[in-house]
Amino acid sequence: MARDAEVFGGGVAVVTGAGSGIGAGIARRAGQIGMTVIVADINEQAAAGTVDEITSAGGKAEAWKLDVSRPEELDRFAEQVFARHGEVRLLINNAGIETVGYTWEVPTARWEATLNINVHGVIHGVRAFVPHIIASGKEAWIGNLSSVGAFGHMPAQTAYTVTKHAVQAFSECLYLEMELKNLPIHVSSIVPGMLRTNIFNAEAGEGEPANAQAHRRAMFEMMRDYGMDLDEGCRLFLEQMAENKFWVHSQPEMSEQIIGGRIRFLQDQIPPIMPDLARQIAAD
Ligand SMILES: NC(=O)c1ccc[n+]([C@@H]2O[C@H](COP(=O)([O-])OP(=O)(O)OC[C@H]3O[C@@H](n4cnc5c(N)ncnc54)[C@H](O)[C@@H]3O)[C@@H](O)[C@H]2O)c1
Repeated sequence: MARDAEVFGGGVAVVTGAGSGIGAGIARRAGQIGMTVIVADINEQAAAGTVDEITSAGGKAEAWKLDVSRPEELDRFAEQVFARHGEVRLLINNAGIETVGYTWEVPTARWEATLNINVHGVIHGVRAFVPHIIASGKEAWIGNLSSVGAFGHMPAQTAYTVTKHAVQAFSECLYLEMELKNLPIHVSSIVPGMLRTNIFNAEAGEGEPANAQAHRRAMFEMMRDYGMDLDEGCRLFLEQMAENKFWVHSQPEMSEQIIGGRIRFLQDQIPPIMPDLARQIAAD
């Protein structure tokens, strides 16, 4: 039996942003290994689509409409999930958006949405669920979606980059809080390299400056042509979480390269290094 099936099978999984991409892939894997999957997304129809995929493959799943940028919705959501199921073994704070555009050109609403979904969504997901998990007395695993972008810098993806640096720091401190309080809650930082998802689709860029379109399209094409297979990446994520790893990667070699660059940047205290990709996109 696969390690994730042994550790997580029979438990309840909560996955935010599970109507598409990585969230949907993790939800499908959780369904496959015998978990009851709570598929939460702001897009109700997309959540229902993931539930159909899980149930038609013989798994158990429920769709929930949830906007992670609203802390009070996360509070209600956690209460209702615990009232109904009494436990959560796996919590994946995954919902996130990409935002493209120069800092001073991204409209306030898009800046706020990026910070609220990507940072506050993760923080309040943890804040809402952890007291219930502690009260249940059961062992649990929390995975927060970081990114290789958490270790680098990318001009014109500044809003997104800021949020991923924040989530990475949050997960590191949360891990230590669990250790300090001796709680049976394992924390993982999930670091996707590049998985084929809808995050750079044209419609996901609504509210960005008009001149962001070419950058978004270049990233979309790169992800389409070079991105890793989604289900394989998500299988790797749950396998590593089941081994209680803090660092969870889809493409470890990509993570290593970017983290290596970060180490040199900090050690030598040099100015930020322009990624080749940024120059390439800007020249197009
Ligand atoms: N795809 C990659 O290669 C990659 C790389 C690094 C990090 N990530 C991270 O993985 C996570 C998922 O990204 P993806 O690539 O699967 O994107 P995606 O666009 O395919 O899916 C994101 C899902 O989140 C949902 N969502 C958006 N706002 C929401 C909100 N307010 N409340 C609830 N749900 C909401 C969307 O409806 C969508 O179903 C993000 O946090 C992203 O930063 C992805």
